[in-house]
Amino acid sequence: MSHTCITEAPEAVGYDELLDRSFRRSYDEGRDIWSDEPAMEVCVQRLLARLPQRGAVLDVGAGRGRDAVALLGAGHRVDAVDLVATDDWAAIAKRWHGQTAFIEGDVLAVRLAGPYDGILDNGCLHHQHPSACKRYLAKLAAHAKPGATLVVSFFTPADGRSQGGLWQQHDGRLTQEFTEAQARALLHGAGWQALDCLAVPRASARYHYLVVTAEREMKPPSSLALATPRGGRPPTARQSRFRGGKFDGSSALHASRVVRSAKDT
Ligand SMILES: C[S@@+](CC[C@H](N)C(=O)[O-])C[C@H]1O[C@@H](n2cnc3c(N)ncnc32)[C@H](O)[C@@H]1O
Repeated sequence: MSHTCITEAPEAVGYDELLDRSFRRSYDEGRDIWSDEPAMEVCVQRLLARLPQRGAVLDVGAGRGRDAVALLGAGHRVDAVDLVATDDWAAIAKRWHGQTAFIEGDVLAVRLAGPYDGILDNGCLHHQHPSACKRYLAKLAAHAKPGATLVVSFFTPADGRSQGGLWQQHDGRLTQEFTEAQARALLHGAGWQALDCLAVPRASARYHYLVVTAEREMKPPSSLALATPRGGRPPTARQSRFRGGKFDGSSALHASRVVRSAKDT
């Protein structure tokens, strides 16, 4: 898999479709190497340690559902969102019928329930277009309880560079690295206060994980919270739910009404 370090982000318009195609292909072709990566398991453990009993949790970019299963097994209620509905979802939804909902769609566009006690983002945020990251985190804050916990896994440079780079895969998918200072600043501007950061080495010499635990600030930045999906996409979104039986069949629900925000900074 070739990656190129780029100095400027590409055009945001159309990036949501590109990202959807890219991840769909990864799963279809069995190239979802993250699903079996042991270092990815740290993230959910950090969240589990801070949740109240029977908490309400959102798993953003849930993938095959490994972390959702850990959360459900610990007694929490889980809404899991991903661009791609993998074939693992049916069995999980059936096993924990009534305790979980799997939602296929873009987290920036789907209707979320909440408010959540905890939110997990294990490897999703850093693939978003850089212009959407703040809006993405603000949407999560808007659906979290005051004081709720967000645990998010970033990529961070493994070689001590003072600035994270922006990498582009051959198909256009982006991966953004964040140093601890960059991660803290991004979170703070979007309604989250970083509490602690843990570097987690992985096999790649290029980047490690940076698992950040954050707390929702008392007042989320409301002007960003219901922002439009990235790239000027119209306010409709593919969204389907899976609750243990079948998908509810509504594959083209209207997303919540969206309000255009001021330009992201
Ligand atoms: C690196 S994978 C991690 C998957 C899972 N969290 C895990 O630990 O195995 C990133 C996941 O985020 C999903 N994703 C990326 N952007 C998304 C978005 N905007 N909304 C919902 N899911 C998204 C991808 O489809 C993919 O499953």
